[in-house]
Amino acid sequence: MMNYLEHNKEEHAEFKKIMEEIEKAEDGRTKRARFIELYASLYGHHEAEEEVIYPEIMEAIKKVEDLELSREMVEEHHLAMYQFQVVYETSASDETWDAKFSVLKEVLEHHMEEEETNFTEMAQKVLPKERYRELLEPFEAALEKYKEEKKKELQ
Ligand SMILES: [Fe+2]
Ligand SMILES: [Fe+2]
Repeated sequence: MMNYLEHNKEEHAEFKKIMEEIEKAEDGRTKRARFIELYASLYGHHEAEEEVIYPEIMEAIKKVEDLELSREMVEEHHLAMYQFQVVYETSASDETWDAKFSVLKEVLEHHMEEEETNFTEMAQKVLPKERYRELLEPFEAALEKYKEEKKKELQ
């Protein structure tokens, strides 16, 4: 059975695919539609991580190491959300759209990479695999809730 840490990598792969599609999209309509989908999905993903996953991991990390990396993870979420809003407020026909999106993509790629490697390694050390299995369901429930919330806001 899948656990959150494995599931996280799969979802990241899906986000990377959508980002490629956005970059390749020829017309502004498709670009915007895919972008809004990505925005809502990643908003849900980040909120769910911060609500369901991170607190417990951070509680456990605190006992053995400092929270520097975990705090960086949270700050990267915020930075990405800031840039999502910047791109959202820019018309797809604006000449700076691609540059703005490219910066967002870089922030997200960096974040996903670090979360999948260093952060995951640390997470595996401080909590048993079983716990990540249990956390998957509440993670997905929170993700859906926040994603739908954001979707409505972005319509
Ligand atoms: Fe993630
Ligand atoms: Fe994350």
